[in-house]
Amino acid sequence: MATVIETPDLRVFVDPSAALAPIRFGLPPHEVELRALSDSASRIASELADVDVVVVTHYHYDHHDPGRLIPADLYSSKVVLVKDPTRSINVSQRIRASRFLRILRGIGARIEVADGVERVFGRTRLVFSKPVQHGNTPRLGYVLAVRVEYGGESVSFSSDVEGPLDGYVVDFMCGSRIAIVDGPPTYLVGRAYSDSDVGVALGNLVRLANCVETLVVDHHLVRDLNYVELFEEIRRSTGRSPKTAAELAGLRPNLLEARRRELYGLLEEE
Ligand SMILES: [Fe+2]
Ligand SMILES: [Fe+2]
Repeated sequence: MATVIETPDLRVFVDPSAALAPIRFGLPPHEVELRALSDSASRIASELADVDVVVVTHYHYDHHDPGRLIPADLYSSKVVLVKDPTRSINVSQRIRASRFLRILRGIGARIEVADGVERVFGRTRLVFSKPVQHGNTPRLGYVLAVRVEYGGESVSFSSDVEGPLDGYVVDFMCGSRIAIVDGPPTYLVGRAYSDSDVGVALGNLVRLANCVETLVVDHHLVRDLNYVELFEEIRRSTGRSPKTAAELAGLRPNLLEARRRELYGLLEEE
């Protein structure tokens, strides 16, 4: 979900980090995934060196990196707009937030809590949502969505809403030229996510497809090779085709985690 949004007077990096699922299908990350992670981390670091403002939507390691793969000194003297580290947060993220923000303060980053605020830089405006639940349970904590506005246009980013399940997120993103959304974790259906959650997510994605120019759905959804079925349902209902983040960038989707068993040679390639 690491995303750089650029306006004529500002470069904003939302969630400059990347991570791999420690276990999927009972398997640790394959060497191919480790190489992809290391490539992504290098690209994130070089972009991070060149932005004015950083946004951290929540404190999972795929969204913030406390100096493990991405050098923390790249944050020095930058404005860092963060999810409130003490309110509307679960215990594990509260611990990670305090460690991360201590490191950032140590190298002179200018940290500001962003929940529900609007912040103007030149002619660019950053608008932050109130805290939104990370999926279908408060146990995973809360995230911030963000909208970057310039000259009557905007790009919006939902962060890890796993759906979206909350209509508030749809209202927040409606009207954007590009909306980048975390889709439902269909790979968890029958365990931590239900068919009725998928139904709610689909209804919200259909509503969003109808009120933005380009709908990008990625992250939790593309941990499932069958994500295309959900895309097809959105297209049938709206006549509009969503894109993955890779497709937005002109690349072909490369679903390494969803194909982990094939990478280990445990299944035939599809
Ligand atoms: Fe997350
Ligand atoms: Fe995430």
